[in-house]
Amino acid sequence: MNHPLPPETAEHPLAPGQRLAEVERRELSPEALAEIRALAQRYPQRMAATLPALYVAQRDFGFLSLGAMKAVARALELPEGHVFGVATFYTMFRKAPVGKYHMQVCTNLSCALRGAAQVVKKLAERTGAVPGGGPTADGLWSIEEVECLASCGSGPCVQVNHGVYDEFLDEAALEQVLEACRKGEVPAWGEE
Ligand code: FES
Repeated sequence: MNHPLPPETAEHPLAPGQRLAEVERRELSPEALAEIRALAQRYPQRMAATLPALYVAQRDFGFLSLGAMKAVARALELPEGHVFGVATFYTMFRKAPVGKYHMQVCTNLSCALRGAAQVVKKLAERTGAVPGGGPTADGLWSIEEVECLASCGSGPCVQVNHGVYDEFLDEAALEQVLEACRKGEVPAWGEE
């Protein structure tokens, strides 16, 4: 699914990785390129650095566009087909833009039994994001239902960018996390 990037406004500036659309950007930032080249030095074969390099590129671009994958291939001097194959095999790599605050809700069995569907519904109501539907028009939010987030004993569990929040049964707790995002207290996607 190809979600268009939201417009950047003064009120809702985009996170670094969200700023440039696929058509506008083909190159890694100098920092990301240096990081990937340093990663490549750590392995006997450059191919072994593909996964961490893709992670760096995802952070840099905001998602793994075709341009990002090609940039990784160039940086590691590997065939584009190899990098594309690895990136598309792993569902945890993003192939489309996400919101500044990307909320992944675990809907696996333990969390499902403890109300994950309600959490998805509440987050959608509060933010206007459509689960699985890409970023909201202001670029702030996106919601995705995901597999186990390894906090099964205290679900339902939500990951906002790199922060994991559990015991999301309490509506006030949910509101607190959203408010922390609005205030910029939670690192934006691409800033972790
Ligand atoms: S089932 Fe939800 S965190 Fe494991």
